Amino acid sequence: MQLIVNFLGRLHPLVGHLPIGFFIFLIILEYTGYWNKKFKLSASIRHFTLTLSILFAVLTATFGLLLAQQSNYSAFLLNQHRLYSLIFTALTLILYSIRNRVFVYRLVLVVSLFFLIVAGHLGARLTHGDNYFSLIQHQDSNLKVHPQTALIYSDVIQPLFQERCVACHGSAKNNGDLRLDTNEEMLKGGKTGFVFKAGDATSSLIIKRIHLSLDSKEHMPPKGKVQLSEDEDALLQWWIDIGAPTNKHISDISVPTYMLDIIYAKLGVPPTPLPDRLSILERAHVLESKFGIIVHSLSAESPYIEVNARFCGNKFGDDQLREIADLGPAIQVLDLGLTGVTDRGLVYLGGMKHLQRLQLDHTRVTSAGLGALEPLTQLESLNLYSTAIDDLVFKQIKSLPSLRHLYLWNTQVSKSAAKTWEIEHTNLLRKKHFAEQIESIKDQMTHEDASANVGESFPNSKK
Ligand code: HEC
Repeated sequence: MQLIVNFLGRLHPLVGHLPIGFFIFLIILEYTGYWNKKFKLSASIRHFTLTLSILFAVLTATFGLLLAQQSNYSAFLLNQHRLYSLIFTALTLILYSIRNRVFVYRLVLVVSLFFLIVAGHLGARLTHGDNYFSLIQHQDSNLKVHPQTALIYSDVIQPLFQERCVACHGSAKNNGDLRLDTNEEMLKGGKTGFVFKAGDATSSLIIKRIHLSLDSKEHMPPKGKVQLSEDEDALLQWWIDIGAPTNKHISDISVPTYMLDIIYAKLGVPPTPLPDRLSILERAHVLESKFGIIVHSLSAESPYIEVNARFCGNKFGDDQLREIADLGPAIQVLDLGLTGVTDRGLVYLGGMKHLQRLQLDHTRVTSAGLGALEPLTQLESLNLYSTAIDDLVFKQIKSLPSLRHLYLWNTQVSKSAAKTWEIEHTNLLRKKHFAEQIESIKDQMTHEDASANVGESFPNSKK
């Protein structure tokens, strides 16, 4: 049943072109008939074309509602698309009922066309992404520096200052006695001293100025100038929070995934250096029809996918999982609940390096098999509800550094062991956090040394 629903949903973009075609054809007929009496539209053809438009508009809307349930489209675009499409569908029905009242009919015809165009445009943006209609397509080839060799300051932060600040804080103009065009100048600070406190973004002048309300005279960049985007703001804050390092390679810093995407975008790299999205989806769809699993891509552009085998039940076992493992690094969410997967199959999960959510509930896996999850450093959520696992499980998953949610209801695990693990695991996460903070303090100390040196060589440079 689910398969049929999915299939019909996927027909939506195809069927959607029919009401557009019929409706525009109707408008062409109406208006040529209006200008040239020879082509005047007969009531029966009007009736016929309008009926076809309505029929397919309703069909398209139905399929669209099915499709919306199974995909991870941008919620905002999706809601807008749905709204405009439903209004259009309603207007076609109204048109039908007023088709004999020429004046109102023509008026509503034009209004409907407006809703149809907007709905269609939003639909295209949903499927093809925002760049589809621009003349200049963003190419992967505008790579500036390879991420492996890029430096966090020179290749990411400095270009940002250059773009947004240096016009007023550079060698030509140094408003507020502040220059942001080189590392040394930046470290000297401005008329009121250091502009940032390494390791503490919120008390850094630079961030405070950026966060002032736009109307404030001291807001940076001043009102009317190109402002920092949310991502750029987050980037600057993150960089100061990790100690504002100036000579580190990105590959030497443990960068959270969301920040990596921002940095990669700044470097001109496509978000994730993953296998090509199209070939992944192609292979995924082959496996989808072979096993009856459901595969979604996680957004209109992301190469990451969600794989759901729950509905296959026992027909999906270790051998099928081995074939799915072919999609390895692209899988971010995997639902194996209620399937025939056993410990033997878990070894195939090792290659799914980007897996964040895994459901193994109601399967025959045991604690012994879970050691195979060790390579899954990004795993945040693991569901083991209603399995035969016992207290041994904690030994096996001890080293999963990103794990935040563990579901253990209806298993052999004892309450006390779960409690102990929870405390230990929280401590582990805290320790990791502290270690990162210590790193940032070390960086901060290097900066203060550097600033002190600069102060000595330019004793009168600051008030
Ligand atoms: C259009 C010119 C302009 C741009 C662009 C601009 N600033 Fe400024 N900035 C000024 C002026 C003028 C002052 C001095 C007046 C004041 O203190 O508000 C100043 C002062 C500052 C100060 C205070 C220095 C001190 O020690 O008091 C900081 C920090 C600052 N800017 C940061 C930035 C950052 C970061 C950017 C880029 C994101 C930026 N500015 C972009 C004009 C600009």
